[in-house]
Amino acid sequence: MELIDLKTGSRDYPVYIGGGILSNRALWAKLLNDQPVLIVSNEVVAPLYLQTLLSALPGGRNEQLILADGEQTKNLSNWQLITDKLATMEFGRDACIIAIGGGVTGDLAGFAAACWMRGIDIIQVPTTLLAQVDASVGGKTAINHSAGKNLLGSFHQPCAVVVDCETLNTLPIREFRAGLAEVIKYGAITDLNFFDWLDRHATALNARLPEPIEQAVISSIQAKAALVAADELEQGPRALLNFGHTFAHALEAATEYKRWLHGEAVAIGMILAARLSTRMGLDSGDAERRLTELSGKLGLTGPEVGLPDNQILIDYMRLDKKNIGGKYRFILLKELGTAVVNADVSTQDIHAVLDSFLLTP
Ligand SMILES: NC(=O)c1ccc[n+]([C@@H]2O[C@H](COP(=O)([O-])OP(=O)(O)OC[C@H]3O[C@@H](n4cnc5c(N)ncnc54)[C@H](O)[C@@H]3O)[C@@H](O)[C@H]2O)c1
Repeated sequence: MELIDLKTGSRDYPVYIGGGILSNRALWAKLLNDQPVLIVSNEVVAPLYLQTLLSALPGGRNEQLILADGEQTKNLSNWQLITDKLATMEFGRDACIIAIGGGVTGDLAGFAAACWMRGIDIIQVPTTLLAQVDASVGGKTAINHSAGKNLLGSFHQPCAVVVDCETLNTLPIREFRAGLAEVIKYGAITDLNFFDWLDRHATALNARLPEPIEQAVISSIQAKAALVAADELEQGPRALLNFGHTFAHALEAATEYKRWLHGEAVAIGMILAARLSTRMGLDSGDAERRLTELSGKLGLTGPEVGLPDNQILIDYMRLDKKNIGGKYRFILLKELGTAVVNADVSTQDIHAVLDSFLLTP
């Protein structure tokens, strides 16, 4: 079992990673000290893993809340269901939520934990690749609002993260590949050696071999932990994690979140951002070439699949939360492995990049 100690201004906490650790009784006994526990999961994950978790928990009071599946459940009504359950059970400030599931479960339960009595403990048990390498680590919690995704939320660090890579065995292949896009991202923005490693292990990752997957998860969490430790509240270097995301959010919104999974949109967004980097006089073009190759090897598609109308995408990018003073703030690559924040991109630059994919798919 690997342990990464994440240090943030508000809280330090352990991230445990390993195959089969969900059933590690000694680990759970260490994490929970006689606290009342509310397990939050969903109707897909609970039948697969709830029993294993329950058998591993130390004695003591525990309750469960199993919600419906899907992004649309990350809403105020389900936040209310969780807090109503906490209220009915008379759970106080010593209570602990265990969120077991993908990023939707983690974000929703995390936001309930952030609000209940101004903040109670939460242990994140992510079961999708995306949640293991991204959503469960770093303390961002949120639910969606009718005006947009993740608009109601807060920073609330978990007290521990338990990453059992064996849970990925039941993950649908499309979800697995979407998670790989975020893994690629860490190599692209912070670590050329990791990117090269992913390239060399693409066949093994496609075959879903446990060892390289676990290594990829560990390296990804290390990369995220370093950025979160340096900048818990995303006022500086943590923003680099948004590489590819300005395009991705626009792609998702323009297609009403129906055409692409988030990671699939990020894979396309990273290639677009790499081409934009070259246009802005940064990377030579090598980053785009290698990102395209690696995405393809890992079963992800690029912008050649055809994009929504330029103007619609640009209208969404204008609303991006990262923009300041009416200026776009893109994360670009100086070169593969080194990302920078750039505030010089114009609407014309974005048009040119999007058009170039129309002309030369
Ligand atoms: N907080 C953050 O920092 C952060 C970062 C990235 C994404 N997010 C959020 O995460 C969400 C996306 O997360 P996601 O991609 O995990 O989606 P998800 O939670 O919807 O999970 C994807 C699907 O996989 C199922 N599933 C989960 N684990 C499984 C398993 N082991 N076996 C079989 N099926 C399984 C889920 O029930 C769901 O149907 C979005 O809401 C996004 O906003 C948050």
